[in-house]
Amino acid sequence: MAERPYIVGNWKMNGTRAMLSEARAIDRAAQRYMKVEVALAPPATLIHAVHREAEQIGIGAQDCHPGEAGAHTGDVSAAMIADAGAKFVILGHSERRQGHGESDALIADKVQSAIAAGLRVILCCGENAETRDAGKAEEFVLGQLRAALPKIEDAGDRLTVAYEPIWAIGTGRAAKPSDIEAMHGAIRELLDEMYGEAESAKIRILYGGSVDSKNAPTILAVPEVGGALVGGASLTAEKFLGIVVGGSETVEA
Ligand code: PGA
Repeated sequence: MAERPYIVGNWKMNGTRAMLSEARAIDRAAQRYMKVEVALAPPATLIHAVHREAEQIGIGAQDCHPGEAGAHTGDVSAAMIADAGAKFVILGHSERRQGHGESDALIADKVQSAIAAGLRVILCCGENAETRDAGKAEEFVLGQLRAALPKIEDAGDRLTVAYEPIWAIGTGRAAKPSDIEAMHGAIRELLDEMYGEAESAKIRILYGGSVDSKNAPTILAVPEVGGALVGGASLTAEKFLGIVVGGSETVEA
């Protein structure tokens, strides 16, 4: 992979201030692997604190509400997470689609709000095992993307796509390189069609689902894989940095 891989840790609902030392260790180590762009999405409660610790890594959020402000108890807006120090937001993660009933239409609204607030978006997509077994994975994933990708001029500066097959998340069973290559190729064709090849080329397509330090070098070397979205293996600096090192090794000298 010639371009700079983007390795993003998604802490999900994990982490209290006691974990700030891990974020600091990740940040300091990232300064030694400048060939890799490293980022972390801690829970909303830690965005500001991690932002204050970080000198090198990008900080993001895991979700935002589509509205600007108002009577939405328990929610946070895109402007609020940006104010806390987030530079990007993960949207459409399967755990939000499933656990919170998020529809493609809601995710499309969130994408628009996040971009309006000046955030970059990591838009997640991915099929479940049933859909894959039925041979409909590609059609399903491209449908999710068509429904939520925004019609904007500067897509290349704003968007990252993350392909995360649901059956691979947190299972220790990452997708096969050949399946990742086929899906990422199909996603690239859609991005070319929507944004034109020049803008599309700037949009990285991450793979997510049981990425660890062992499989990272293989996965990151797959054509059209521009990085990884990492859950479980991002919770300690030691495990996460193993992936960052793997990413660094796949970059051509
Ligand atoms: P995992 O999660 O690395 O724990 O499989 C990936 C994700 O959900 O982003």
